[in-house]
Amino acid sequence: MVQRIAVLGAGQMGAGIAQVAAAAGYDVVLRDVKQEFVDRGFASIRGSLEKLESKGKVPAGESARILSRIRGTLSPRDAADADLVVEAIVEDVAAKRELWRELDAACKREAIFASNTSSISITLLASATRRPERFVGMHFFNPVPVMKLVEVIRGEATDDATTKAVMDAAVRMGKTPVEVHDYPGFVSNRVLMPMINEAIFALQEGVAGRDEIDTVMKLGMNHPMGPLELADFIGLDTCLAILRVLHDGFGDPKYRPCPLLVRKVQAGHLGRKSGRGFYAWDEKGAQKP
Ligand code: CAA
Repeated sequence: MVQRIAVLGAGQMGAGIAQVAAAAGYDVVLRDVKQEFVDRGFASIRGSLEKLESKGKVPAGESARILSRIRGTLSPRDAADADLVVEAIVEDVAAKRELWRELDAACKREAIFASNTSSISITLLASATRRPERFVGMHFFNPVPVMKLVEVIRGEATDDATTKAVMDAAVRMGKTPVEVHDYPGFVSNRVLMPMINEAIFALQEGVAGRDEIDTVMKLGMNHPMGPLELADFIGLDTCLAILRVLHDGFGDPKYRPCPLLVRKVQAGHLGRKSGRGFYAWDEKGAQKP
């Protein structure tokens, strides 16, 4: 049974995962490569807990208890005792495979390994370890404390016990897990990214302006954010990387990334995280008028 969880990567996703795991009562280790990244992760968890406490969604005083269950570290060896290791580092195949190799040597044999990757093949990551049957995808959505879904991705070798353990852990974290198989983009990004890409093509072709395209999808389809705003929120580099995985993985031109998206990424206009994408964003992540 899972009791201790190690989260590798204290960025927005890793911090969110550590938060919901600690809120569910797990003991959590949160690791990143620099102290400032760990500190930023804790600051984001504090901010989120404050929001939840002010709305009565976390009982008064509970935030401190949740935070006390999370231990920050710089050493991947601190994951050695974990029953479940969740990796949420940069979306880079070589970096992820290297980290998983290191963790495979450091962690106990029976520990379950889960990657929060949004599109890299789980089977490919699992093959960097000697435990592909205990390797699975555990794909959370941003903002993690708010979004209910966890996409649980079975790689070629993932066994039933591993899938069940991760589904159970997701439920304990207050999430709704959905089991899917390991194909490019899984289900979430195979459906989401072509929509975002098509919105960018519509903008590029001048079918309508940015605000008009987003308004159509918000008011006509009841999406909380329009596709261009959502692309900024996810990160335009991330959207492009996922589209490339779909394009390469299926070899189907329907997934070709829109040249306007490529150009924005080349310019360093990556969306909310860089302050500029299809919209302008301030340092706090709020949209500028
Ligand atoms: N922690 C805690 N609470 C948070 C929060 C956080 N980090 N962020 C937002 N909230 C809360 C707010 O406090 C607010 O709570 P109440 O309803 O109780 O007031 C609620 O969430 C809504 O937030 P806001 O009022 O600030 O703003 P909003 O109504 O515009 O909602 C949003 C913000 C939840 C982000 C909403 O716009 C939304 O759902 N957008 C779409 C998000 C989405 O699609 N995410 C998936 C991206 S894809 C991905 O992550 C994976 C991938 O592979 C690419």
